[in-house]
Amino acid sequence: EKGGYDTFMEKEINDQPHAVADTLLGRTDERGHLVLDEMGMSEEDLRAITKIVIVACGTAAYAGMVAKYAIERWARIPVEVELAHEFRYRDPVIDEQTLVVSISQSGETMDTLMAVRHAKDLGARTISICNTHGSTIPRESDGVLYTHAGPEIAVASTKAFLAQITASYILGLYLVQVREGNEEGVAEVMSELQAIPDKIQQVLDGMDRVKEIARFMADTRAVLFLGRHVGYPVAMEGALKLKELAYIHAEGFAAGELKHGPIALIEPGQPVFIVVPSPDSEHGLHGKVVSNIQEIRARGARTLVIAEEGDEDVVPFADEVIRIPRSPALLAPLLSVVPLQVFALELSTAKGLDVDQPRNLAKSVTVE
Ligand code: M6R
Repeated sequence: EKGGYDTFMEKEINDQPHAVADTLLGRTDERGHLVLDEMGMSEEDLRAITKIVIVACGTAAYAGMVAKYAIERWARIPVEVELAHEFRYRDPVIDEQTLVVSISQSGETMDTLMAVRHAKDLGARTISICNTHGSTIPRESDGVLYTHAGPEIAVASTKAFLAQITASYILGLYLVQVREGNEEGVAEVMSELQAIPDKIQQVLDGMDRVKEIARFMADTRAVLFLGRHVGYPVAMEGALKLKELAYIHAEGFAAGELKHGPIALIEPGQPVFIVVPSPDSEHGLHGKVVSNIQEIRARGARTLVIAEEGDEDVVPFADEVIRIPRSPALLAPLLSVVPLQVFALELSTAKGLDVDQPRNLAKSVTVE
């Protein structure tokens, strides 16, 4: 059942092109319009939405953070992302024009379920992005958008994360379609998304060096991860994977925060992954992150740089360059997270740990 792989996690990482392709499958009609028939809300209601609040835990919450950048950009609706266990004990300002989107692989996470109930009590509309048919969270939500990642067995989430980002992007595009029309814009992003599974495969096919780097790092005490814009939640996801799987202290930071504190952690030999935005990114973000790499390298950091093919600016400051195919900036997380997953898997294996069942963790957290 592990499909020839040693662990479920390895299988699931390698399943990711399918997880994304299957989540995209069957979402459009013959005219190229998105058809989401389990929204549980009329188009009129969707047009009346003034705010989106995404609630989730762990990796699913990082998918939500990625989604915020895209949905705000495309649909021009304000999006907040909140950990479900924080949201459920607050007195959030939401009403019937708020769309609360829960994201959960299992559909059984207690805090996420309670956040959905809290939102409903306050009159909000609720949609769940979920990987498990018939589970509790989608059953209790007004609508559902299923991710089609297939069963995820390993405790550490991988393919569900990519499918969650994909599904939330479909939701964002659907809101554009319903609220503004803009068929061309929607079709363009959909076709860029369709190209992602092959690009994930390319990343997977080029992981030999990442595995080698990981195997030499079994004694590492701490690893830092930096990213910006959509690369920021990717950095945090990379850190979470390493904590969970390899029991190594790991932190993800927004690269812009460096000078506000984290740069004090840099000492000679400190490994730092940097998720570099595409050179085409707006606001000169690429150049800003390249300067960050330069700054930490000057202080002795060992820089492990994830950058697009053709991005030569990073080369002088990188101890290692890990390449991902070119893609629109907002879709890059679907590629840039993959080397971080493979790194954590390989390091965990090198330490002889139980990859599928890390200590102290459960696959779905059905208690508080
Ligand atoms: O089933 P869910 O998506 O609701 O689970 C949420 C988190 O418990 C989950 O993503 C957790 O953080 C994973 N162990 C991450 O690898």
